[in-house]
Formats: sequence, structure tokens, C-alpha cells
Amino acid sequence: MEWGMANRMAQLIQSDGHALFLPIDHGYFQGPTRRLEEPRKTVEPLLPYADALFITRGVLRSSVDPDNSRPVILRVSGGTSMVGKDLANEGITTGMEEAIRLNVAAVGISVFVGSDYEKESLLNLSKLVDEGEKYGIPVMAVTAVGKELEKRDARYLALSSRIAAELGARVVKTYWCQDFERVTGGCPVPVVMAGGPRVDTELEVLEFVHDGMQKGAIGVNLGRNIWQNDFPVAMIKAIRAVIHENATAQEAHELFLSEKESAAKKA
Ligand code: 5RP
Repeated sequence: MEWGMANRMAQLIQSDGHALFLPIDHGYFQGPTRRLEEPRKTVEPLLPYADALFITRGVLRSSVDPDNSRPVILRVSGGTSMVGKDLANEGITTGMEEAIRLNVAAVGISVFVGSDYEKESLLNLSKLVDEGEKYGIPVMAVTAVGKELEKRDARYLALSSRIAAELGARVVKTYWCQDFERVTGGCPVPVVMAGGPRVDTELEVLEFVHDGMQKGAIGVNLGRNIWQNDFPVAMIKAIRAVIHENATAQEAHELFLSEKESAAKKA
């Protein structure tokens, strides 16, 4: 691996082989998502606990100070919205020159396997990989499901993740699911897990993150289940304990509860 590529991968994946990416890119198709209405306010207290931010160029420039940032995975696909015809019809929104200008550690793009735009999104990934490899910039592929959340099963996610890796993604972001080892086992590059819409309890989140780590994920790219929580700093610390300190879900939950209690006392 070229020095630049290796250096960028090392910025993302920590020396223990694990990673906690914090996505705040949701506005690129959802608009002002709940508790991400003012991205600066959401992200500032969480920055010290994130290994990298997944973010668009607009929010990066407007809401993250360049002298107080974390490695950036730049979201470079989009062009669709929640109210448009088809979320899968994405294009590449941001060029590699811009990514270099913003000194990013990686770029990220969604692929929509099985959709009407499967071929376009996969060819967009391939083109982005060609460009990224030229400049030593890794590509993270996001196995997107659009509004069809029920697609999140091992068969579909293993298929999408493997295709993304075959086309050259250096990291694949997918969803946790039952039998998650089928997804990681069939994907020859590191896999991180997204959280999806908020789940009912903190313990459930910590359990699926722990299960996914045991089954081969290297970490998470997890947003709403952190920053939509009433105690986001407590939540990110608990998730960090699972990822970087080998905590069980129960131990991480105890950490969450004690952090929540001290935060509540300070408020
Ligand atoms: C949105 C994304 C997000 O980065 C991804 O879904 C992770 O966030 P969350 O944990 O909130 O699902 O790709 O398009």
C-alpha cells in the first residue's frame, strides 16, 4: 500500500484495529434531521470520542473548526431527497480535487444493490475508487437500503458488502443483522456497522454493537443512536468502551448509566 493510502487508513482504523466513526451526514437527503438541526451543537461535545467524522463538505465547512477536528470521511454521493422519486438515484456530488482541498482521510458513497439504480450506483463507486486510488484516498462504500429498512438481512447485506469490496472499497459500512458473521465472513475488507433509526433502549444498541464486533466488524459508523439520545456523550463513551476497551454490552451499559447520572447532576 502506498504511504498516503496507508497513512489515511491508519487515521481511520486505530492501532487496536478498531474504529468509531461518527456520521452526521444525514441532512444530505433528510434535511434538518432531529437533533442534527444545528450540526455544530450536536458534534462539538462528541468530537473527542470519535475516531472520524462522516460528513458532507457543506457541514464540514460551516460547522467544524479546522483546528479542532477529527479525520474526515467526506460524503460525496447524493442528489436525491426524502421527498423525491427515488433515493437510490444518487450521483457523485463532490470531486476528488475538493476532497484533497479539504484534506480528507477518506470519501464515502452509497450503493443501492437491487434497486432500479443498482448499476449506476455501482459504477459510481468504481469511478470513485479509480480516482481515490490515484491520490491515495480510501473509499468507504455504504450499503444503503433507502426507505426499505426490511432489506437489512444477512443475505442482502452480505451480497451488497461483497460487491462493494470487489469494486474496490477499502472499508464497507453496512447494517448489523442476525447472523452477521455471514456479512463479515464474505467481505474481504473491514466492515463497520451503522445503527439505523433509533432503537428503543441503549442496551439494545450496545448488544448489537458487541455482537457485531464478536462476529468480525471492526467498529461502527453510528449516528442517530448516539446523537438522538438524551445523553449523547454518555452513549458515545459506552459505545467506545465496547469498540476500544473490549467491554461487554452490560459493562458498557453500566458506564452509560453512571455517565448519564453525572451529566444529569451537572445539568
Ligand atoms: C446516512 C448514512 C449514515 O452515515 C448511516 O446511516 C449511519 O448513521 P445511522 O447510525 O444514524 O444510521 O449513510 O445516509
